[in-house]
Amino acid sequence: MQGQIESFYDPTTGTVTHIVFDQRGGHAAVIDPVLDYDPKSGRTRTASADQVLAYLQANALSLAWVLETHAHADHLSAARYLKQQAGGRIAIGAHIREVQQVFKQLFNLEAGFLPDGSQFDHLFENGETFAIGALEAKALYVPGHTPADMAYQLGDAVFVGDTLFMPDVGTARCDFPGGDAHLLYRSIRALLNLPEQTRLFMCHDYPPNGRAPAWISTVAEQRRNNIHIHDGITEAMFVGMRQARDATLDMPTLILPSVQVNIRAGTLPPAEDNGVSYLKIPLNAL
Ligand SMILES: [Fe+2]
Repeated sequence: MQGQIESFYDPTTGTVTHIVFDQRGGHAAVIDPVLDYDPKSGRTRTASADQVLAYLQANALSLAWVLETHAHADHLSAARYLKQQAGGRIAIGAHIREVQQVFKQLFNLEAGFLPDGSQFDHLFENGETFAIGALEAKALYVPGHTPADMAYQLGDAVFVGDTLFMPDVGTARCDFPGGDAHLLYRSIRALLNLPEQTRLFMCHDYPPNGRAPAWISTVAEQRRNNIHIHDGITEAMFVGMRQARDATLDMPTLILPSVQVNIRAGTLPPAEDNGVSYLKIPLNAL
């Protein structure tokens, strides 16, 4: 059975949330849902996630999985909210434990926060297969942007997370803690070894020069046209380009809020004795 895919683009963070499902009235997975966050007021909203819920409801879909490709640094995850509203299991790559360890130290998190992945319902190993209703999916380990990135493959469709972007945007940065441009090159080349007509679904788009947002390309297109990693670019060339470029990039606006929520599978930090949940800003530490 061929899965059906519906995608939602969040212009505020450039994130694409995908719903993949077997059939109307069947089962769905939601990949990389966004919890809206206004850094000026510290207020979260569920408008983006509610669009996803409305689509699930309109198509009588039961939510089997909320899949994270990695602990995002540009948006808060709505995984917990979706699970509360619609059920399903929240999953991410098993290497999230390394990311949790790094950020537990940076944020000096409470002793009760265990960097063991237990905040998630399931941790994927490389090559693990799983079911979304009648669909068979496969988790692919694609580290480099972070040490824990996963891609998810369903038939001829691969949700690539933060590896590739659209050909005119290139590839994901590798300068976050545990990032590695060598590993990203190898992860991407492994994806580009898939059959040429394989459809690649991006996790982000930052459209240049006024083009409309887009998130679907193919292996053939990326091999021909990706500005950072088309065929002929060697690992050394890629790593040199990536490191030089990353040195010029500011940290994402939402990296500190995002990571604190996303390593908890989309749960806000525990409320203090006044009932309010707080985010921390480590000074001169990142
Ligand atoms: Fe990312």
